[in-house]
Amino acid sequence: MASTLLLPLGTTAVLALLARLSMPRSSVNDIRGRCPGLNAAANHGYIPRNGILNMEQTNGLFTMFGMGIDVFQFLAAYSIAFDGDFTTLTWSIGGPLPANAVNSLLGVPQGDGWSHNNYEGDTSITRCDAYTNGGDAHSSSPTRFLYAYQSGMDNDRYTMDKFARLYAKNTHRSIQQNARYFAPLFSTTIVSPAAHNFVIAFMSNHSQAEPGGYLTGDHFKTWFAYTGNYPNFKWVPGTERMPKNWYKRPLLEPYNAAAVIADDVVEFAAYPDTFRFGGNTGGVNTYTGIDINNITGGVYNSKNLFTGNNFACFVFSNQQQAIPQALKGLVNNVAAATQLIFNNFPASIGSSLKCPQLAQYDNSIFDPYEGAGDSWMAPKTGPKNC
Ligand SMILES: *[C@@H]1O[C@H](CO)[C@@H](O)[C@H](O)[C@H]1NC(C)=O
Ligand SMILES: *[C@@H]1O[C@H](CO)[C@@H](O)[C@H](O)[C@H]1NC(C)=O
Repeated sequence: MASTLLLPLGTTAVLALLARLSMPRSSVNDIRGRCPGLNAAANHGYIPRNGILNMEQTNGLFTMFGMGIDVFQFLAAYSIAFDGDFTTLTWSIGGPLPANAVNSLLGVPQGDGWSHNNYEGDTSITRCDAYTNGGDAHSSSPTRFLYAYQSGMDNDRYTMDKFARLYAKNTHRSIQQNARYFAPLFSTTIVSPAAHNFVIAFMSNHSQAEPGGYLTGDHFKTWFAYTGNYPNFKWVPGTERMPKNWYKRPLLEPYNAAAVIADDVVEFAAYPDTFRFGGNTGGVNTYTGIDINNITGGVYNSKNLFTGNNFACFVFSNQQQAIPQALKGLVNNVAAATQLIFNNFPASIGSSLKCPQLAQYDNSIFDPYEGAGDSWMAPKTGPKNC
C-alpha cells in the first residue's frame, strides 16, 4: 500500500479509476483522521489508502470532489509545515507519520489529526473540543452529529446557511463548555468555518435539476460514517464513503480558494458573531476577543474587515505573522515552513491582492489566553457527549 506513494506522476488517474471499481475500504494500518472528506477519499482510493500524502497528489481531491487545485496545494503546504515531514514532503490525514531515521531524531510529525491549535482547531461539526474531551478532538461524537443532523431535518436538506447557524451555535457551545477555548487565526477563523462550508460544497449531490447541489440527511450520514436512525446514531470509524449513485460538483466549476474565502465572508457578514479571534481567559464564559484594529495597526477593524479584498488580505498577512507562533516547539524550521506556505499561496486570490503592509504583532497579545499554547498529542478517551 505504501508503494502507491512511490509511483510516478500520472498514475493517479489510473489509480482513481481502479478505485472507483473497487469497494471503499480501510484497514487497521491505514491512517484516518478527523476530516470525513479526506477519510472517504482514502477509503475510495482517490488519495493513497494509507492516509499519507505528498504535495504532488493534487488530482485525487479534484477528481473526486471538484476541489480547486489551489485549495489542495495551500492546505497540503500548511499540513507539511505544521505537522508533516519536511524531509519527504509528506503529511498524514490523521495521526503520526511512521517513524524513520530522520524524523525519529527530530520528533515524529504528528499529522493533521493531532495538531491541535495549529492545523486543526475546536468548534468542529462532529468532533468535541480537545480540552473538553481529554485531548481527543479526533473521534466523532454522536451527540454532536445529532446537533448537526437536526439543523437540516425540517426539509431534509442541508445548506451553507443552516451550517453557518450551526457554526454559530457550536462556537457558543465552545465558549460555554471549554474553559480553555481559544480560536487561533488559521484553524478556527479560516479552516473551521470553511470546513462547515466544505460539507455542502463538496458532498452535495449535483444534478441538472439541482446544479448547486443537494445534501440530504442520508447523504450526510453516509459521508460521516454514521449508521442508525434519528435520534439513535452510531459512528462506525473507517466507513466514510460517497453515497451510491452520487453526482459530484461539475469539474468545470471547481471550488477554488477565491470561492472558499468568498463563502467565509458571506458567512461572517450574515453571522458576525462567528468571526472569533480570541478565547476564554479565565474559565468558561470568559470569552475576550483580540482587537483586530490593534493587531493590524489600525488597518482593519470589525467594520471594514469583510469588505472588498480586506478579509483575503488579512488572512494573507496575518497568517504570515502567525506562523512562528504556530510552530513554537515544533520541529519544522520557521523560514522553510513560511517559504513552503507562501510558495503555495492560492493563485485564485493571491495574484489579485494588493495588501497593505502590517506591523509585526506582539505575541504577548496571546498571554491572557490559557488555551492558546495547548497542543494535545493524542486521542485518549473516544467519543463522548459534548
Ligand atoms: C443524485 O441526483 C441524481 C439526479 O437527480 C439522482 O439520480 C441520484 O439518485 C442522486 N444521488 C443520490 C445519492 O441522491
Ligand atoms: C489596543 O491599543 C490600545 C492603545 O494602544 C491599548 O491601550 C490597548 O491595551 C490595546 N488593546 C489590546 C486588546 O491589545
